[in-house]
Amino acid sequence: MSQTRQRTRLDGTAGKSDVREWIREEFQAHTSSKQAYYHDSGGSFGLDAQRNRHHDGESIYQHFGAKPFWKVLEKIEASNHPAYRYPSAYLNALIHVSDADIWALERGDLDRFSDEPETRQRVMEWLAKPENRDILDAMDDGGIGWHAHSKPGKGKTSAANFLCGARMTEINNETVLWQLTLDECEILPLAPYVTLAMPAGVDVRLMAVPRDDSLPRVEIDPTDVFRDTLTYTDPVDLLEQTCPGAIYGVLPDPKFRGCEELVEASFTSAWQAEDTEENTGLVEWMHGLVHARAKKDVTLHPTTAVIDEAGDMLPIRPENDANDTKTKVKGFAEAYGKARKKNFSCVFMSHSLTTFEETVREKERLWMTMPETPTPSGRLTGLPDSVPIKGNYASRLSKGQAVIWNSMNFVDIQWPNPYRTYGFEGEISISYPEREVALRDI
Ligand SMILES: Nc1ncnc2c1ncn2[C@@H]1O[C@H](COP(=O)(O)OP(=O)(O)O)[C@@H](O)[C@H]1O
Ligand SMILES: [Mg+2]
Repeated sequence: MSQTRQRTRLDGTAGKSDVREWIREEFQAHTSSKQAYYHDSGGSFGLDAQRNRHHDGESIYQHFGAKPFWKVLEKIEASNHPAYRYPSAYLNALIHVSDADIWALERGDLDRFSDEPETRQRVMEWLAKPENRDILDAMDDGGIGWHAHSKPGKGKTSAANFLCGARMTEINNETVLWQLTLDECEILPLAPYVTLAMPAGVDVRLMAVPRDDSLPRVEIDPTDVFRDTLTYTDPVDLLEQTCPGAIYGVLPDPKFRGCEELVEASFTSAWQAEDTEENTGLVEWMHGLVHARAKKDVTLHPTTAVIDEAGDMLPIRPENDANDTKTKVKGFAEAYGKARKKNFSCVFMSHSLTTFEETVREKERLWMTMPETPTPSGRLTGLPDSVPIKGNYASRLSKGQAVIWNSMNFVDIQWPNPYRTYGFEGEISISYPEREVALRDI
């Protein structure tokens, strides 16, 4: 599938089955990779047992019509691009290496990477070149991530689709856990590669809603859109089922099973809540996952969690209300710090850094400012005292571009428009009907 692909369009005479067929055609699953086979076989075949298959990360960047990353690296080297001159401001977030990887690269020992995806091997070869020693020296081990901020519609989600979905899997064979918000299906461009992780025993409903209202809306199966599905009982069980290099669209568990124990704070589902204050928001499920990743050592494989609307789960100066918000938010900063040492990265997206909790800001190192977004003030706790871009820097950027920066330097970046990988015009809306009934009854 490439960006030049012909789009199918339906006219007003189309019925429900035509719409459903349209969805299936537009989101045809990519089934030939190791990761696809792993889930198809219920995890009974290890990735190593399938030598002749490729990794998802070796084809997702092509799905977006992009060049392989090792070629991008050669290009930025040849042109002495800011990304090359200031590796800690961008490449450090994209290329994940352990200390043992760094050690092998310093010695020029590339055998260490011979079982990894070819796309990662090429990046490692480039990093091992003696003339790129400064770049290698700028790479931190462990997890890192970034925080993208702007008003809605400025490209945060689309950047994450490309950088986390395509580049992380290509470069690091990263496991990507993308928490879906139910407000929009943020991960649609990646759907042919996505495993939908569903909470066990919860009724999940997917509706295809065409933008053209002369077309019918139709209830669909998860696999009409997504490659495959899994069900999990709690955050630890989910981590146990993930495999390296795969992307998961994670539907939060509205019953928050396992979360109280992991986070040591209270979670109250819509079924248990006596009033709306007490009802725990779905975004808070992510606390359980981060604690599980920090404490349980189920997997240490490089993993990125994509957290959209992150301000909702990490509000500034939280109070200890009926939901123990303060305990959760302060506990997050600590768990995130621990998990980072275990190769866990978070990509946060939020509307405003000023309303985002400061103890978590203090743990962050890279910021992404979207077009038409004022540069945040260095007076905010956790941000560098002197932010390296001017106040109105982002006004020069267009859609599909952003500036990423750390305490010292900045780099302009761009990505292909991910919404052009499919021709379905409309939304896939996901809901939990039983939870909605419970919410009405509170
Ligand atoms: N590479 C690109 N080129 C042009 N437009 C883009 C590109 N990437 C995204 N867009 C457009 O930017 C808009 C906002 O994208 P989105 O990622 O949903 O923003 P946000 O997450 O900040 O709300 C969309 O209309 C999308 O089509
Ligand atoms: Mg968004």
